[in-house]
Amino acid sequence: MTPRTHHCSAIRTEHVGQTVTLAGWVNNYRDHGGVRFIDLRDREGLTQIVFHPEAKDAHAAAQKLRHEDVVCVTGKVVVREGGKNPKLATGEVEVDAVALEVLADAKTPPFTPDDAHKVGEETRLRYRYIDMRRPRQLEILKTRHRVTKAMRDYYDAQGFYEIETPFLCRSTPEGARDFLVPSRQQPGEFYALPQSPQIFKQICMVGGIEKYFQIVRCFRDEDPRADRQAEFTQLDMEMSFVSQEDVLRINEGMIRKVWKDVAGIEIPDPIPHMTYDEAMERFGSDRPDLRFGMELVDVSGIVGKTDFKVFTGALEAGGCVKAIRVPGGASLTRKQTDALTEFAKQFGAGGLPITKVEGGGCATGIGKFIEGVAGELVAALGAEDGDLICFGVDAKKETVHRVLGELRVRLAHDLGLIEPGQWAWVWIVDFPMVEWDEAAGRWKSLHHPFTAPTAADLDKLDSTDKAAIASIKSDAYDLVVNGSELGGGSIRIHRQDVQSKVFKLLGIDEQEAKAKFGFLLDALSYGAPPHGGIAFGLDRIVMHLCDTTNIRDVIAFPKTQVGADLMTQAPSEVDPAQLQELHLRTVLPQKAAPVG
Ligand code: AMO
Repeated sequence: MTPRTHHCSAIRTEHVGQTVTLAGWVNNYRDHGGVRFIDLRDREGLTQIVFHPEAKDAHAAAQKLRHEDVVCVTGKVVVREGGKNPKLATGEVEVDAVALEVLADAKTPPFTPDDAHKVGEETRLRYRYIDMRRPRQLEILKTRHRVTKAMRDYYDAQGFYEIETPFLCRSTPEGARDFLVPSRQQPGEFYALPQSPQIFKQICMVGGIEKYFQIVRCFRDEDPRADRQAEFTQLDMEMSFVSQEDVLRINEGMIRKVWKDVAGIEIPDPIPHMTYDEAMERFGSDRPDLRFGMELVDVSGIVGKTDFKVFTGALEAGGCVKAIRVPGGASLTRKQTDALTEFAKQFGAGGLPITKVEGGGCATGIGKFIEGVAGELVAALGAEDGDLICFGVDAKKETVHRVLGELRVRLAHDLGLIEPGQWAWVWIVDFPMVEWDEAAGRWKSLHHPFTAPTAADLDKLDSTDKAAIASIKSDAYDLVVNGSELGGGSIRIHRQDVQSKVFKLLGIDEQEAKAKFGFLLDALSYGAPPHGGIAFGLDRIVMHLCDTTNIRDVIAFPKTQVGADLMTQAPSEVDPAQLQELHLRTVLPQKAAPVG
């Protein structure tokens, strides 16, 4: 093909009179008075090409062009005859074609990039290569590239080494199910795909690397959600001889650079800190969305003075009553508040007591049961006429927090209380080290088992008192923006004796610890420096920068809700010979017997 001279986005009035060669896809075509027009599209943009009958061969060939054919056009840049197109960067000019090479014909596509919004996401994923040609999709992938480039530049400048860790490994305990890979050479044995490079990066610290980072694929066999894929990418880092403050400072610098370089957005310096306890008490969540109010207010002392059994019963059972003030929420209809009740129930609420504020008192819903304290309640919440008050009530404080935490986010979205363009950053610190897992009847890590307890709480590791253990704080931290967890990390345990105690506390006995993590315990016994790190969700970072709530938008080849790649049709059955080689036989669940 004739060498391309410009991208389609680059042609301007200053090029008028020049001969240029452009290459790309036929975005659109039309005829006007014997003249054929095509909009030629490449990665960077569009230029209008005109084929006059005088350019005989090119004009004839252009008649056959259809959507998405790939062509190369040579012609002269001229001022547009038919008037400017202000919507297009190249809208003042057009290329008067003298030669046309058809590089590839395209079958009639299932949709064109311009029409992608008219088809379902499944069709777009099935034909991802056409979907990718959309300017918005290309822009997202370009942004993703710029993000990873900024990250690499930043850590490089700070003296970090980019180191690759294996994909075929032993299981890493990040709490999700593993993807397993059967070993051909060791019959009956399996590798696990890494849920994160956690243990390897810690061992890099024992190995003297001091500053490590990696942009790395992680695999967690959990159901995909709007912000979660089974196969996703982390920006993973670790450093030695540091305190929590050092890790936060260096990573804030990275986040600041990414937001500035990619979006021109300044981030507060420093990013404020909030303790886990405060986040739970005030926002009912360890990833609080600080773009709006509706803080949780403990009203136990006020409503405890009434005879309303729903409240007093929970208080007597050792629980609490908290409330949120929903500005303007009195306008919600019965149907809408019923839907809120159903929503609250999903998070463990028995129901959702509500009341509307009118004439300075509580008018509807449970208003009549709390008449005597209405004024005090309204004052405590700073509520005004036209507001709605929602109550969280339960014998367990955690349930109250969970319900109201979820409710305030939903209400803020439903009522449009979030101003666009806001960024609310916060580091959540001072996490509890463990929480009691009722179902399993044992303690489990809030972050992961390698997270260090704070120095002040080290002694409590030997305690048998449940309250003392529950009060152990860890040196863990999460970065939260607009209610979304961008990253999480911790200072690690670097002493083998402490790590063994934590395993024991988590119900991992010596034998199991040795079998699963013997190599880590060994490594820690050969001179491990104090170290800590963090991992950020790269996909989530790009989602924020591209303002999308669908993680599939920011991944070139994403999977669906059921873990399928619709383009390649993975997962798929495999050749029986492959199974035999791997010493595997599949035992499928029995199909349900037909009814009747
Ligand atoms: P964690 O499990 O918190 O920490 O993961 C770090 C960050 O990765 C992102 N993330 C995900 N993104 C998309 N899909 C998923 N399924 C998914 N799971 C997690 C989140 C999260 O904050 N080893 C530790 C890190 C450390 O301690 O250094 C870890 O993996 O944005």
